[in-house]
Amino acid sequence: MTQLTPRPEDKFTFGMWTVGWQARDPFGDATRRALDPVEIVENLAQLGAYGLTFHDDDLIPFGSDEAARAKSIARFKESLAATGLKVPMVTTNLFSHPIFKDGAFTSNDRDVRRYALSKVMRNLHLAAELGAETYVMWGGREGSEMDAAKDVRHALDRYKEGVDTLCQFVIDHGYSIRFALEPKPNEPRGDILLPTVGHALAFINELQYPEMVGLNPEVGHEQMAGLNFVHAIAQALWHGKLFHIDLNGQRGIKYDQDFVFGHGDLMNAFFLVDLLESAGYAGPKHFDYKPMRTENLDGVWASAAANMRTYLLLKERALAFRADPRVHTALEFSGLNSLQQPTLAPGESYRDIPGVDGFDVEELGKRGYGYVQLSQLALEHLLGVH
Ligand code: GCO
Ligand code: MN
Ligand code: MN
Repeated sequence: MTQLTPRPEDKFTFGMWTVGWQARDPFGDATRRALDPVEIVENLAQLGAYGLTFHDDDLIPFGSDEAARAKSIARFKESLAATGLKVPMVTTNLFSHPIFKDGAFTSNDRDVRRYALSKVMRNLHLAAELGAETYVMWGGREGSEMDAAKDVRHALDRYKEGVDTLCQFVIDHGYSIRFALEPKPNEPRGDILLPTVGHALAFINELQYPEMVGLNPEVGHEQMAGLNFVHAIAQALWHGKLFHIDLNGQRGIKYDQDFVFGHGDLMNAFFLVDLLESAGYAGPKHFDYKPMRTENLDGVWASAAANMRTYLLLKERALAFRADPRVHTALEFSGLNSLQQPTLAPGESYRDIPGVDGFDVEELGKRGYGYVQLSQLALEHLLGVH
């Protein structure tokens, strides 16, 4: 029986902006009061989280002077020391202030691009000071609504220049920080650059320090594009690029819902946990969700606990699925073990592949793969039937 009470070793982390979201939306005002960062730290520690993450502006309000900045950081550090909570990831707000209305690293205004780099560099010093290993880059404003507004090839040149410059900054300061790009197809821009995991993986290959840059994929963002998140994560792992992950829930191709983990495509969430656990993903399990606008503060903390409990429940179910002898038989029948076998035997080359007449295509075409039965076994484990 898996442990269902979250413990720090489960490495569950939350964005300060998640539980701290006051639930303003394009149609309505805040429904909850602002939370103090120290209050967030204390509550998350109480719930059994391992750590929390933040955008510079979540901790230090935009435009704070040096004294106010130092005070915010000192109070925060005290609360971390008192609770033992860690800060494994930090990121930058390059989307709220009007200056970023046309983007940050890829704004058409060169001064904005230079300001964005400056804002990230200031925050990288703080990230290193707090021991963060990962620095997320979510380019929410990098993009356009009209094709006339952006030369995408030039914008990608500037994106690469921005990431290369920041890698150089990290190297020169001897920080052990890696960058994780977070793809998203749209929202707030009509079309965001690096819209999916696949686009971001290809972009990384063109960078000056590709080994320093990986991904922070988010469940809902791939699903907003109609894509399969489990496939995206499997491919990111295959490339050695799963540096961090944003867990949440999404129901289909619509606005970014940021629901609690599992409160969307539950079967996909089950196979995601199965994948992360069997692949030995050791990074933080970071919840990037928004407590629904209907919830008061009690509901906020209940929703934070729900994310962790859902993960642990899915982990328990996935382990039971993998341990079930009927599943082993079904996996064998479905050919999943055979897929692990190289298509060519050791020492063989294309010369050893028979001509097309050397195959019994009629017979091979008759085979059933039994995927429905396998999937039903998974569903029944998920429902706790077995
Ligand atoms: C979203 C994004 C953001 C980013 C975060 C980090 O839901 O659109 O996930 O929440 O992850 O801002 O920069
Ligand atoms: Mn999101
Ligand atoms: Mn995210």
